Amino acid sequence: MSVPIETTAPTPYFKRRLYAITSDHGEVGATQTAVANLMKGWDANLYLFAGDNAYESGSVAETAAAWAVWEDEIADEKVYAALGNHDLDTDTYQPHVNFFTYFPGNRRYYSVRDGNVEFFILNSGYNTAGTQVEPDGVSSTSNQAQWLEAAVAASDAHWKVAIFHHPPYTSGVSYTPGKTALRWDFRNLGIDLVINGHSHNYERLIIDGMTYVVAGIGAKSLVGFAASVLDGSQVRNSSYYGAIKVIDNGDELDVEAWSTSSVLMDNFQIIKKAGSKGAQLIESTATESDIPSTTDTTVTQLRMRSPDDGLIYTYEVRLVNGIPTLAMVE
Ligand SMILES: [Fe+2]
Repeated sequence: MSVPIETTAPTPYFKRRLYAITSDHGEVGATQTAVANLMKGWDANLYLFAGDNAYESGSVAETAAAWAVWEDEIADEKVYAALGNHDLDTDTYQPHVNFFTYFPGNRRYYSVRDGNVEFFILNSGYNTAGTQVEPDGVSSTSNQAQWLEAAVAASDAHWKVAIFHHPPYTSGVSYTPGKTALRWDFRNLGIDLVINGHSHNYERLIIDGMTYVVAGIGAKSLVGFAASVLDGSQVRNSSYYGAIKVIDNGDELDVEAWSTSSVLMDNFQIIKKAGSKGAQLIESTATESDIPSTTDTTVTQLRMRSPDDGLIYTYEVRLVNGIPTLAMVE
């Protein structure tokens, strides 16, 4: 028995969308290549970087050399990057913004949407000498912060992830306790996850209910942790280079931190109910032979996650008077 239901057209998810992220990767060599190969092996929808993309000073030549390993993915416009302090050392940020002509907006801070995830790439603004060079500022009341507030509010993406270089919180021995200027109220802004670099290690912290990940494990020499770590520090690892894999699993965002030697350094989930989003397709048995005929018939069955209770139900697509109709199977 089938009960017809009203539904808006769901976004089909035949493959879970996946994102590969690392930071401080801009040093050409075997480590950078190994990390890049790890990330490419995931066949990600986007490859994202939290800065220090071109050591030592982000010059035009260093920028071109450091991104060479990502040439194909850049050609496909699958690469998005934040500015790190080293990228700000030459002509403020011009080599970076001139190199990535497809970045939106001012290319220093911007958002990029893929599927149900929107990434908000920010410019944490400090160069290696410690001078803040972002014209729109980096304080919680800056023009950049006001842009973020408006952009997040305007976004209907289910998942909202902020990526920028300097960590607001880190137990890394070089930069403990983090850059206080960047301690914005990300939770109230509507951000679900913050990803940083600069501290050359892996750390996950929960501060005031917000999850912060430091992923400075992309190539540059690893750095350990202070004897006394920050309150809220959950997981730390300074033994491996690697990257993090973020998987959009509907109401669940799955995050894994992997080393180039296949060590799983961390694994956590962030849960957020779908709210008013359309049902999410989990599995479909449809094939080309399922193209509708003109008679009333069952075309195919689908397994989808209900937007109401988050549970997975079996639906079927039937032709009713020649019109495709979605029905839940009891
Ligand atoms: Fe840095």
